[in-house]
Order: sequence, then C-alpha cells, then structure tokens
Amino acid sequence: VTATAFAKWVPEVERCLADLLPPATQEPARLHEAMRYSVMAGGKRIRPVMAMAAYEACGGNKPAEVLPAAVALELLHTYSLIHDDLPAMDNDDLRRGKPTSHVVFGEALAILAGDALLTLGAELLVTRPKGATYLAKRSKAARMIFRALGTQGMAGGQALDLAAEGAGDVKIEELAKIHRMKTGAFLEACLLAGGIWAGARSESLAALKRYGAAVGMAFQVVDDILDATQTKETMGKTPGKDAKTGKATFVKAWGIDGARRHADRLLSEALRALSPLGDSSFALRELAHFVVDRDR
Ligand code: IPE
Ligand code: IPE
Ligand code: MG
Ligand code: MG
Ligand code: MG
Repeated sequence: VTATAFAKWVPEVERCLADLLPPATQEPARLHEAMRYSVMAGGKRIRPVMAMAAYEACGGNKPAEVLPAAVALELLHTYSLIHDDLPAMDNDDLRRGKPTSHVVFGEALAILAGDALLTLGAELLVTRPKGATYLAKRSKAARMIFRALGTQGMAGGQALDLAAEGAGDVKIEELAKIHRMKTGAFLEACLLAGGIWAGARSESLAALKRYGAAVGMAFQVVDDILDATQTKETMGKTPGKDAKTGKATFVKAWGIDGARRHADRLLSEALRALSPLGDSSFALRELAHFVVDRDR
C-alpha cells in the first residue's frame, strides 16, 4: 500500500529538510552532522504529509508557504526517535535502517542532537508560515503542537510507557491512554495544524480532530503489531523488542489478531470522521488506509 500523497509531498519535504538543517560543515560540525544523520536517514515523513493533506483538505491553496512549518514537524518527530532509542529509554541500536544516533555519535551528542532538533522545530513553528497574515494561525498551531509534545502528550506518554514496562497486565484504558499520549496526541496535532494554517472552519477542525484521534491511536497499535511480526530489513528497526522488554501493547493484551481487529475498527472510525470534509479529504482517506495496512 502506498498513498499518492507521499509521491506528491515526500520529495518536497526531503528538499526542504535539507535546506532548513544547519550545514554539516558549520560549527559545531559534529552536532550538525548528528542532526542530519538521523533526519536525512529517511523515514516515512507521515507527519508533514498528514499536515499538508489536512491543509489541502481544508481548502489551503498556498502549500509553498506552509511547507516549512509542516517540515518542522518532522524535526520534532526525529528528536523523539533519537531520545526514544537512548540506552536509558528503549535502548535500540537500529533506526531508519542505520545504527542509532548514540551508537554513532555517543550518548551526549545524541541527547544534544535531539535537543537541537526540538528547539529548531520550535523556532520554525513560531516563524513559519512567514508573514503578518499568519500571525494568529501560527501561534495557535504552535501552542497546540507544543502541548501535544509535553507532559499531557508525548513526554508524559513516554514516561508512562517506561513506567509500565515489565509491570505485568496493564488495563486497556491505561494502555489506550499511553498510546494516545506518546503517539496519538502529536499526530492529531499535526493534522489540526494543517487545518489551522488553512484557516479551517470549526466543523472542519472538529472532523480533523476525530480523524486524528482514531488514526493516531491506529498508528501506535500498528507499530506494536509490526514490532511483533515484521523483519528488521523491512522496518529498519529491531523487531521483537516490545515482547522482550515487556512493553504494554495491544499485542500483549489481545494478541496479534485482536490488535489487528482493533486497528481495523479505528480505521473505520477515522474514515467516518472525514465525511464533513467531503471529496477534498481524499488524501486523508488514503493515508488512513496506509497507516493501518503499512508494513513499516
Ligand atoms: C515511529 O514513528 C515512532 C512511533 C511514534 C511509533 P514512524 O513509524 O513514523 O517512524 P519513521 O519516521 O517512519 O522512521
Ligand atoms: C515511540 O514508541 C513513541 C515515540 C514518541 C517516539 P516506540 O518506542 O514503540 O517507537 P519505536 O517502535 O521505537 O519506533
Ligand atoms: Mg518507546
Ligand atoms: Mg522505541
Ligand atoms: Mg514500537
């Protein structure tokens, strides 16, 4: 499965990422090298692509103005991956088909590369899309994204994820909360940001929010399924880690088939949520299918 939105946006996202990152030759060169190493290693680019698809679904027609802000989302995401892989967190040595940042650059630089990607992403979000006409939209979108990365979102969810490691049976409601916080909140915020930059009406934003909640949850459920079923070659990261470390996942709670059925239910919910957006939400429809049917 692929979605045409990837063909449309990924080359532009790649170009813009390469432009926005500090040159690897500029001091402190090793830090800039580490930032580029993780960001330019590839990745599906689903968050910027989701944001651009949401922007267009809400009638946005100046994509070149919005692209750098959408690309900032990928910098923020890559920060989370570098830190997620650290020895003190998931202790992973493979990411995006390459040795993880701390393996190549050492822990200190990996931490700093994460910090610098987070702050560069933040700087971009308070300055892009450029211009006075975007002032209110920019600050509304930025505030929402920062919230989704904080203690009620990703950082908080990551803390709960680690606390639940090896804790035996975790209640389904607790599991859903961890997934929503660590992964769902940010994905939902990426979609809403696209809508906000487009100046979407409140009904459209409400639809994006329902879609984002379902797709965001599905994204982590499928990530957990892939961890249990995929190869390292396909995923570019080490499989089987969740079972080995006793992570709280839907696969652990319900088995692979149960988790799959849950992902399918979430897909239907996501598609239903799009109906107020009509035909313009075609790309988001495709992306929801991609999230659930992907193999990496
Ligand atoms: C992996 O994210 C981390 C999760 C939030 C589950 P992605 O699956 O989007 O990773 P890349 O960006 O494609 O490498
Ligand atoms: C990632 O969850 C959540 C983040 C916020 C990065 P995982 O720990 O399952 O992500 P992977 O499987 O390492 O990509
Ligand atoms: Mg993790
Ligand atoms: Mg991990
Ligand atoms: Mg995982």
